[in-house]
Amino acid sequence: MKTLHKIFFSDARRMEQLEDGSVHLVVTSPPYPMIELWDSFFRRVDRGIERLWRRMEQAETLREKTGLALQVYERMHRFLAEVWREVYRVLVDGGIACINIGDAARNIGGFFRVYPNHAKVIEHCEKIGFTTLPYILWKKPTNKPKYKGKGAFLGSGFLPPNAYITLDCEYILIFRKGAPRKFKPKDRRRYLSSYTKRERDRWFTQIWEIPGARQKLSQAERRTAAFPEEVPRRLIRMFSLVGDWILDPFLGTGTTVKAAIELERNSIGYEVDQTLKPVIQEKISRVKGKDFEVVWEG
Ligand SMILES: C[S@@+](CC[C@H](N)C(=O)[O-])C[C@H]1O[C@@H](n2cnc3c(N)ncnc32)[C@H](O)[C@@H]1O
Repeated sequence: MKTLHKIFFSDARRMEQLEDGSVHLVVTSPPYPMIELWDSFFRRVDRGIERLWRRMEQAETLREKTGLALQVYERMHRFLAEVWREVYRVLVDGGIACINIGDAARNIGGFFRVYPNHAKVIEHCEKIGFTTLPYILWKKPTNKPKYKGKGAFLGSGFLPPNAYITLDCEYILIFRKGAPRKFKPKDRRRYLSSYTKRERDRWFTQIWEIPGARQKLSQAERRTAAFPEEVPRRLIRMFSLVGDWILDPFLGTGTTVKAAIELERNSIGYEVDQTLKPVIQEKISRVKGKDFEVVWEG
């Protein structure tokens, strides 16, 4: 089956090229609010965040600093929610959105706390109209408990009670627009897309471990915090049919598009960072033995 893949170098907060109800599945991972890697991104794309950030840096009291940190956090999620709203619009009824996000644990002005990104995404998506479905905890490989900066274990060794839990899981949140999709009995595409009993038993469970994924990432993939190919591959097989349209509004290095090509789905990617084009091209060029066309815009 020949498939089509459209990559737009533009802002997913306005996916004007896409019609309402034209996408069957969204698989994505946004920049994570309050994670250092993405601070400069959010400060650059939203002047309000930059202003709050400067005030936070200049604030003299801890109370002021932590209050402003929470405002920054809220505002970063408002930025992401503009994309979630568009995702809702372009999904078909019964379409599913899988959003990979990690929480942030951070010390600002001497005050350590967790910023529970997964909870904020659920809150915004429910306001938009999505139904929250049971989600996945993706357990990342870690050696031992640790935190950057003021370490949780600095000085306290093995003494209770002031050490912190290491965040070693990310979330793959799963939302649906409206009621489940309906199919005619014996739908051919549905049968063509089936998974095995072994796959079902491993995939439809709450905790995922994907061993060795981190070691295989290239430098560009580390810079954009790319997910391993196994993540979109599983989600696409679990929640879409051969020939469906898959969207990744935060395309990064193109992992979702590569998986879609390999699994004979059509796909659409949005990415604001033009410098990632050669990285995406290289990733797609590794697909072998599939009949597909890629259209680049912007
Ligand atoms: C966490 S990375 C995605 C990594 C991707 N899953 C992969 O495997 O390579 C998030 C990406 O979203 C892009 N981005 C952020 N805001 C965007 C927006 N409003 N529209 C389109 N892309 C955006 C960033 O430039 C970044 O490349």
